[in-house]
Amino acid sequence: MRNKIIKVILNNKDNFISGEDLSNKLGISRTAVWKHIKKLKEEGYNIESVNKKGYRLVSFPGDLLTSENIKYNLQTEMIGDNIHHLQTIDSTNEYLKRIGDKSTDGTVVISEEQTRGKGRMGRTWQSNSGEGIWMSLLLKPNIIPFKAPFITLVAGVSVVTALRKLNVPAQIKWPNDIILNDKKICGILTELSAEIERVNYVIVGMGMNVKNMYFSGELEHKATSLYKEGYVLQRVDIVDKILYEFEKNYIDYIENDNKEHVLNLFRQYSNIINKEIYLIKNDKRELVTCIDINDSGNLIIKDKDNNIREIMSGEVSIRGINGYI
Ligand code: BTN
Repeated sequence: MRNKIIKVILNNKDNFISGEDLSNKLGISRTAVWKHIKKLKEEGYNIESVNKKGYRLVSFPGDLLTSENIKYNLQTEMIGDNIHHLQTIDSTNEYLKRIGDKSTDGTVVISEEQTRGKGRMGRTWQSNSGEGIWMSLLLKPNIIPFKAPFITLVAGVSVVTALRKLNVPAQIKWPNDIILNDKKICGILTELSAEIERVNYVIVGMGMNVKNMYFSGELEHKATSLYKEGYVLQRVDIVDKILYEFEKNYIDYIENDNKEHVLNLFRQYSNIINKEIYLIKNDKRELVTCIDINDSGNLIIKDKDNNIREIMSGEVSIRGINGYI
């Protein structure tokens, strides 16, 4: 009922709709209408009520990541058709794993808080309530498992494109950290459920720091948020843009097997091609020149003996000679 009310007043945009019209349209009493409106106001919907005129939506709570708010400006065909907005959860990736088999392709889960947010390599991901975008996408592509890892690159490129369209000059640090002003603002954790020849589902988890002002421990020097860097944006706008960019790139990859577009953007966003970087493995640093990123998303480097080598993600981490990227 709540969603129906939102829909009716959203569709009525600048005009007032009377309590009576609402109650007739929705088949509920005027007192019930009033109660729902009161609840929506408490949630942050700015609804004007004028005697004898009725109700008018002045602004909706852009920063609430409810399904209705996200869908209001969402321009996708299938990603986000089904959105779960949770107040708290262990991890949105874990939640999707639990409901993955019976949920539809493109389902999106967003939680205000994660109590056991997961990072790559078994690390934890700080996910305080309301501070960021803690979101996972469920994908059911008809592909062989071998093709799945590239989806992480698709996600990274889509996040950066979305941020750049919002005038945030983000970059990618290979393989999939999103960087702003030399610090990490977003990480991506892709998980796969597959048989030998068939993918059951892929879960793409994205964690973006939006409003965090403090990071604990060593994160203080490595992590940042959009607010901390002076970019005060609505989370809902960021989510809409990310889902839009992701769907375009994802469909192009799955349906047309087109990697080139994403790879070209990746090269452009990563800013390490033809630069010297350090490869870091078990505290050992090796200075190499980055030549390219190949079709599989692996790094092609030239070492000091002029050997050309392919480096897979997970094998090493990289540092720019002057800083984080
Ligand atoms: C990284 O280590 O860089 C990846 C971090 C991924 C964090 C996101 S937040 C939403 C989703 N749920 C999780 O538990 N992790 C991912």
